[in-house]
Amino acid sequence: MGPWPLDPRGAQAESISVLYWILFACAVVVLAIVVGALTYSGIKFRDRPGRVAQQTHGSNTLELIWTVVPTLMVISFTALSWDRLNVINDVSSNVAMTVKVEGRQWAWAFTYPDQPMFKLPDGTLLQAGEQLDIPVGQKIKLELTAKDVIHSFWVPNLGGKKDAVPGHTTTMWIEADQAGTYKGQCFEFCGDGHADMLITVVAHPQNEYAAWAKTAVEDQARLTAPETKAGHDAFLAGPCAGCHTVKGTTAAGKVGPDLTHIASKPNIAGVLSPVNQENLTKWVRNAPSIKPGIVMPKFEGVLPDQTIDQIVQWLLTLK
Ligand code: CUA
Repeated sequence: MGPWPLDPRGAQAESISVLYWILFACAVVVLAIVVGALTYSGIKFRDRPGRVAQQTHGSNTLELIWTVVPTLMVISFTALSWDRLNVINDVSSNVAMTVKVEGRQWAWAFTYPDQPMFKLPDGTLLQAGEQLDIPVGQKIKLELTAKDVIHSFWVPNLGGKKDAVPGHTTTMWIEADQAGTYKGQCFEFCGDGHADMLITVVAHPQNEYAAWAKTAVEDQARLTAPETKAGHDAFLAGPCAGCHTVKGTTAAGKVGPDLTHIASKPNIAGVLSPVNQENLTKWVRNAPSIKPGIVMPKFEGVLPDQTIDQIVQWLLTLK
């Protein structure tokens, strides 16, 4: 089954779905009793010629039952929910690692903890957009915040939802029991791109997690290599990241093509070949003059020439 809260794949989602099923079962029983009694009385005591309804005034037994039973039910639901909430809100015990999550219009960015395995050669920490990689069977604490408006983090198979609020940090935890890919979605309407604000959580077997982290750090180190760092920064800070995705960075735009491997492609937008400094520069400067009607605007005169050069140099490292 897909992303669905009643298909729990982790401790927190499990405790939520157990609570759900208990409440649901009780609700079904109450509904059956009420509708059953109503139907029975409706048929048995219906109006018939010559019958006069018997007049009764109060029944202590009945009144006791319909006061005490619902009271006991509500008290047990409160106790049960309280107990579950303590588990769901416990972000301090047994935490294996803490990942910072930032929501913005319209993507998620994850910053991994300050541990040697996530450190890049330049001292910064591993960062990723859209996809969060976690080890199986470990409690991962998330510290959520938002850059612009309120977003909400929800990966139904792994846990409950939590708002990401600008200027404020909220916390939650997730845990996956089995390796696999879990999908999620921003759950607070946050503008045009809300429906595309997806989350992917990939759970790796514990013994493979360190190897994953090593590769991820190496890949990101390549993306932020000192020689082309200026282009990387300009790409992410400028208009490019709004439309294009480069995996391993926070650029997660969906309007334009994915540029993760642009340097290995045979051509640019199907029209300019090969992908080299000259063609790519021409393209970024004035794409509409090469492919009329294209959504990509011209950046000549919009971005400084030097910035365009830096961006192109960086794009050429994306093999
Ligand atoms: Cu972010 Cu909806």
